[in-house]
Parts: sequence; structure tokens; C-alpha cells
Amino acid sequence: MSAVREDWVAARGRALSGDTGVPGDKSISHRAVMLAALADGVSRIDGFLEGEDTRATAAIFRAMGVRIDAPSESTRVVHGVGLDGLRAPASLLDCGNSGTAMRLLSGLLAGQPFDTVLGGDASLSRRPMLRVMAPLRAMGAAIDSDDGERPPLRIAGGHRLQGIRFDSPVASAQVKSAVLLAGLYAEGGTEVHEPHPTRDYTERMLSAFGWPVDYAPGMARLAGGHRLRARDIEVPGDFSSAAFLIVAATLVPGSSLVLRSVGVDPRRTGLLDALRAMGADIRERERRAGACGPLADLEVRYAPLHGIALPEALVADMIDEFPVFAIAAACAQGTTRVTGAAELRVKESDRIHAMATGLAALGADVRETPDGMVIEGGRLRAGRVDSLGDHRIAMAFAVAAQRVEGEVAIADVANVATSFPGFDALVRSLGFALERAPPISG
Ligand code: S3P
Repeated sequence: MSAVREDWVAARGRALSGDTGVPGDKSISHRAVMLAALADGVSRIDGFLEGEDTRATAAIFRAMGVRIDAPSESTRVVHGVGLDGLRAPASLLDCGNSGTAMRLLSGLLAGQPFDTVLGGDASLSRRPMLRVMAPLRAMGAAIDSDDGERPPLRIAGGHRLQGIRFDSPVASAQVKSAVLLAGLYAEGGTEVHEPHPTRDYTERMLSAFGWPVDYAPGMARLAGGHRLRARDIEVPGDFSSAAFLIVAATLVPGSSLVLRSVGVDPRRTGLLDALRAMGADIRERERRAGACGPLADLEVRYAPLHGIALPEALVADMIDEFPVFAIAAACAQGTTRVTGAAELRVKESDRIHAMATGLAALGADVRETPDGMVIEGGRLRAGRVDSLGDHRIAMAFAVAAQRVEGEVAIADVANVATSFPGFDALVRSLGFALERAPPISG
């Protein structure tokens, strides 16, 4: 959580050009610290995301007795304590803004012999947790919260866990991962089935750390009673961070950008399919396999876009990309319809509402629906928007400003540091006009 409020003023810069990497993948960085902490031996993580969310996870494991060194920027050396080596923390474990930290940790801590309390910032404290509490209780965990469904979460240790078969009502990698991580400590087998396949980093990385996992798109199964073996992890660039640059280069005439070593797992790259269906020019080069999924260099050139009816099958594969997708749609010719995306209402902010309100403030014709929105493409004009403290809303409107005559004031952007530290300096170097502003009042 960022204590100091920050605002931006963004405006159209020049055509984007450059050749750059993006910060490490957030999902993989969280999991790398968690699994390395529980492994036998020392693991080195390169490309670790130096963001507030992932630092919170590292701090939580330090508070439970795990030595984590940071010998250089973006490197962590984790001295694993083994599956049963965590120690009771002295106080509440602060997950900051991170739903991933809280939900994955709730599963992992359910199997410990000691009590824990997981808390977070104002945004995280509004987010639904029953989706993990219910299956964890079915496994025998004692997990509670004051209002029954929102943080802080109190987990009483010392309960024996039993494996379950869980048919998840939501397509959520966080829910799946919470159940699988509890499954490490459970008697017997644990199996999760999903309504739509979600990112499988927990499954892949458990396997890479030597724990047998049986998985396919939409299902994962493991059994307790194994050990995790330390290993080195190379974290790819975060596709969700690259997404802002991909859309910006697509929208600004004359742009040509190369993004190096970006994770392009198909469960993350739905935005590429959506943008290509709208007419975008995005090419993959040097596709290669990594321990955490495929990576590639991406070449993006300006292209005029047209609106689409977004296939619902793509929603889970671009779940974090809707803020910037909405900007692409607002700058496209014609109508874009999003349906089947009600999950967006329970992210770091209500992203359907945040985008509809912000785009309307810039003169766009947008209609909110319960599970999506209808966006009429057109011209955007200068105005003021509020990110509602949501990192991805803030960055999406910085991209929108690249298509506006005049200035876009963006309020409450400090949380960009949760996932994309250095965003402002990087986008300036690529062509954006974006400055810190004195706080916007009113
Ligand atoms: C994440 C899963 C997604 C995503 C989040 C990271 C993960 O959340 O939105 O940014 O690392 O597992 P849900 O599982 O709630 O969809």
C-alpha cells in the first residue's frame, strides 16, 4: 500500500519507438517466493518483480522465519525452510493490495500448526474471500473473518486437512491455487476443476519444484506427502504490464515497438487475440520455452482498429487486460461489446465502473452492463479521471491520453508501484508525455 498520494498529467507524446523489456511477471514472482520458501535448499529467483505486491509476499515469509536475500535489483535468494519449517509470525501478515498474496497464502497457511491473520489495504479489505474460505473449510481448515467474507482472515493452525474434489464456481487461478497449496498439507488427493481454464503457474511451478501434479486446461490434481526441491527460477516479463505498451503502440500513428522476453502463455494472452481480431499488427519473434511457460519478443506497429463483440471464451485469458482493452475499444471504429466479465467488478476496483466512468469523463460513449460494457469507438477529449487507486486503471488512462488533444489528469496513481514500478519513466522514454502533477482537488 502506498501511503503518499500521487497524480499524473498525461498528454499525447510522439509516436512510440524503442526496444525494451518489462518488469517481471507478478503471478510468477509471488509463486516463486512461496514455493522456494517451502522447498529444501536455496533457490535463486532472477527477474523478480520489484513491486509492492510481491515485496509484501517476501516480507510475509521473512516474518515466518525465511531468510530472503536481495543481492541485486530483481534477484532474490530464498533459503527454503522445507514444508514444515515456517515459524509463527509475531503479528498480522500484511498482503497490501494483493489478492494473489492473500488467497494463495490462505491455502498455504491453512495447513500450518500455528495461527495467522492475513490483512491488507482498503481495496483488498473489500474483496471477496468466501471463494477461498468455502473450499478450504471443506478440507478441514479453520478460517474466518469478522464479516464472514472479507479480510482480515483469521486462520487457526493445527487442523488436519483432507484432500477434496472441488468444482470451482468461478474461473479463478487464485482460488484454484489456494486449494492446491492447501492440498500439499492434506491427506490424500486434492483435485480442482474450473468452469474455464485459468493460468496454470501454480501447477507448472509445483512440478518444476519436484512435486508431482497432474494437470490439463481446466483441471489439476495432486496428493500430499511429497517434498519441494529448491531450484532457480527465471521470471519472464509480465504480459499484463506489456499490455499497456502493446495497446499504446497500436493506437499511436507511426509507432513501432519491440518488447523483449515477455511471457506469452496462452492463458494470459487473450488480449493479443482480441486486438488482432480488431485489426492490430502484433508479431511474435523468438518464441522459446521457459520453466514458467513460453516467452517471446513482441513487435507492435500502429494499426487502425475496428470494434468487435468479444468472445466470452477469451475473458479468462485476458482478465487483467480489460482496462487497457476498453481504451483500445474506445479508440476503434464501431462498437465493442464485452459480456461474461462480471469478475471485473471484484478486482482491485470495480473495473467495469471505473472504466465506464473514466471513459465517459473523456467524452466516450460507454454503457455499463452487469457483466461487461458496450463501447462506441470515437474521439476522446481532455478531462480528469480517477483511478480509484487501481494500478491498471491508472496506466490504462495514461495510454488513453496518447490519443487525446489536450491533457488527461489521472488521480490517485501511486498504486502503479504494485505491479509496474518505473512505468512513468519507461513510457516517457518510449514517447509518452506524462508528468507527476500536484494532487488534484475535488
Ligand atoms: C492471478 C489471478 C487472477 C488475476 C490476478 C493474478 C494469479 O485473479 O486477476 O491479477 O496470480 O493467480 P483471479 O484468480 O481472481 O481471476
